[in-house]
Amino acid sequence: MKTVHKILFKSSSAMEDVEDKSVDLVVTSPPYPMIEMWDQQFCQMNPQIGEALERLDGKKAFELMHQVLDKTWDEIYRVLKDGAITCINIGDATRRIGDIFQLFSNHSKILNYFIRVGCNILPDILWRKPGNKANKYMGSGMLPPSAYVTQEHEYILILRKGKNREFQEEAKKIRDESAYFWEERNTWFSDIWTDLKGIDQKLSTNFTQRERSAAYPFELAYRLINMFSVKGDLVLDPFLGTGTTLMAAMASARNSIGFEVDQGFKKVVQDRIQNTTNFLNDYLVNRITQHLEFVKEMDKNNKALKYKSELYNFKVVTNQETKIRYNFIKEIKETNDMHETFYFDEKMNQNIIENIINNCQIDFSPDERKITFQQKLR
Ligand SMILES: C[S@@+](CC[C@H](N)C(=O)[O-])C[C@H]1O[C@@H](n2cnc3c(N)ncnc32)[C@H](O)[C@@H]1O
Repeated sequence: MKTVHKILFKSSSAMEDVEDKSVDLVVTSPPYPMIEMWDQQFCQMNPQIGEALERLDGKKAFELMHQVLDKTWDEIYRVLKDGAITCINIGDATRRIGDIFQLFSNHSKILNYFIRVGCNILPDILWRKPGNKANKYMGSGMLPPSAYVTQEHEYILILRKGKNREFQEEAKKIRDESAYFWEERNTWFSDIWTDLKGIDQKLSTNFTQRERSAAYPFELAYRLINMFSVKGDLVLDPFLGTGTTLMAAMASARNSIGFEVDQGFKKVVQDRIQNTTNFLNDYLVNRITQHLEFVKEMDKNNKALKYKSELYNFKVVTNQETKIRYNFIKEIKETNDMHETFYFDEKMNQNIIENIINNCQIDFSPDERKITFQQKLR
């Protein structure tokens, strides 16, 4: 089995390389309008934005920045299959322009766009990222009425083009194999995510104009891909940055395509992918280990689990989880602007999982095609 991952270093405002109605899922995070770190990029895309900021017309600048993003949303709408889902991570911006402090509601602007084109809006996720900076409170301190509520959350907007996707015959089998665990469902489908921390975003390279990557955590992309697509699907990220979505697609046995306008990220993404196989495999090991711990806990509390995974023989809560299939990565090969991800065969995947069950240390390095198993010391 293999998946294919393509990166195009150009603007997603014209994605002629992507066919109409060919994408199963979009997972992305755009540059945030009215957050200062993105001003320069927006101004390059439309110089009128810089002029509006200079004359302190924040509202106009905000409008124009969203008009820039709308070009990519237009393209997304074109390439999405009917029934496909889009997940957009976005934060609102707070900013003082001249002597006026205000919130620029990016999430509502983007939602309005998708309502206008006819998408169905699904319940969203609030990603709460507590900051413990001493200066997180803004405004007039303890004196009313001009203190401001702290902004410690971002949104993950979720939209669907058209009706629910349907699965027939072979596709049904793939859907069953793409199931997640019951206990994962309980966390992943909660409307507030408090367990995902932001990541260190400092870029240790001078290839790009930015000092920070603005990357989201791997777990965020991984969850969304596993919640809203099935194996073999095509996942698109039109604002790829450091390639997090692409890596999460590799770990999830989905194909992917990413667009990034900043050429400086070529090296960042390439380096990241070159060193990622072990990280992605360890991530899957961890997911299974956590499930085994959950089963142990249920057993300890005498909560009988009725069902068993057909392939791996561990217990699961529901019938829907019995056909779960894991695909560990054997090798990632790079060719031009493409990465091909090859997965181990079923026998090897079963062998890996058996060793996890037997509490073995699994070492995917140094040569990713070779795996060593070693009994863990207790
Ligand atoms: C918030 S960052 C995405 C970070 C990414 N999720 C990650 O984990 O690394 C937004 C990215 O979109 C890129 N970008 C902005 N406008 C773009 C466009 N029109 N086409 C493609 N990429 C664009 C920026 O250069 C930036 O790297």
